Amino acid sequence: MGRRLETPMYDVNLSYEENYRRGPFGAYAQALQREDSNDRVLDGNREGESKLSSFLGFEVRKPFGIPAGPLLNSHFTDAAFRLGFDMCTYKTVRSRAWACNPFPNVLAVHAKTPTGFISAGSPETEAGLIADTRYEQPLSISNSFGVPSQDPDVWQPDMQLAMEHSGKGQLLIPSFQGSRTSDMSTAEYVDDHVTAAKLVMETGAKLLEMNTSCPNEGPGRLLCDNPDLVGEICESVKNEIGDVPLMIKLAYVPDDDTLKHMLDVTVGRGSVQGIVAINTISARLVDAQGRQALPGAGRDRSGVCGHAILQAGLEMVARLSSIRRRGEYDFSIIGVGGVSDAGDYERYRSNGADAVQAATASMWNPKLAAEISR
Ligand SMILES: Cc1cc2nc3c(=O)[nH]c(=O)nc-3n(C[C@H](O)[C@H](O)[C@H](O)COP(=O)(O)O)c2cc1C
Repeated sequence: MGRRLETPMYDVNLSYEENYRRGPFGAYAQALQREDSNDRVLDGNREGESKLSSFLGFEVRKPFGIPAGPLLNSHFTDAAFRLGFDMCTYKTVRSRAWACNPFPNVLAVHAKTPTGFISAGSPETEAGLIADTRYEQPLSISNSFGVPSQDPDVWQPDMQLAMEHSGKGQLLIPSFQGSRTSDMSTAEYVDDHVTAAKLVMETGAKLLEMNTSCPNEGPGRLLCDNPDLVGEICESVKNEIGDVPLMIKLAYVPDDDTLKHMLDVTVGRGSVQGIVAINTISARLVDAQGRQALPGAGRDRSGVCGHAILQAGLEMVARLSSIRRRGEYDFSIIGVGGVSDAGDYERYRSNGADAVQAATASMWNPKLAAEISR
């Protein structure tokens, strides 16, 4: 835990737009400057690792990578692939351009709980966690972007490039979500997901991830809090994409009945083939004086990720895996949340994850994939 933090790939002192234009930074930027092709860089780094795993029918060298979030565009995904992150998810896109929340978008979070972990709705997350600019190990952060998106005319060709640049045994996963505007009916909202999925398919995508777990229903309200609506949307999206596998990204679901219901209306209806879990855990964020840490209305709470959510992520994956083991449903699981070293990767795998991804730790540790592949 005592290791030094490296220059992050995403510069938290710059706006999202600056990062989109100028990133990635640090060792990720250096990886892009090498002249070798992706495959040569990887072969040189990873002699002897020739066995491929299978994930939803795709061959992957190591079922580990970076989930939707830090990889803003193909510059970021190219760099991550070169550093051996074999399953990289392109940050969530929408059917239309969508502005980012005001700066700052990332703060360090100090989860001073007895265990160092947080759980959804706990006294600590409700009372307020201290958030500031002191980034330290064990690393936890908050991200408050509001899921910005470029216009499809910008992200479609870029996503296509990102896919083309993946090396042998590497997988680019496109993430998308629907956009809710105040004048929209539920039917129009469902249709917006279908439109976004169609736009992703036009890039040549071979599998899709649909984000249901950001506060896209208004402050603090998640689409995945409403399993029946998720089920309806997934059926419509599946009608559009046909045999292409669909994964859904879920937030932490505290009770088994709701989780089982979510699987009934998605996996059970044949519209979803994989679950990605978990997204951030919502907490009230305060500064050292107890004042709201992020500026602006509706930002008193924000999603926490990194080490503080490891226990919640492991627990949710164990519950998903136990439902799968009982033979009710067959689906793939990507375990996400708080992974910061090879031990955490193994813990997720032992709990039943077919693949594992790390967002926060990968941002600050460009060697994470190499350490896990060793
Ligand atoms: C900078 C940043 C941006 C993120 N943006 C998205 C996003 O656009 N879509 C999404 O589904 N999850 C997003 N996430 C959530 C991550 O995919 C992941 O679920 C969460 O960070 C927990 O993983 P971690 O503890 O390894 O960071 C983002 C996370 C970070 C750190």
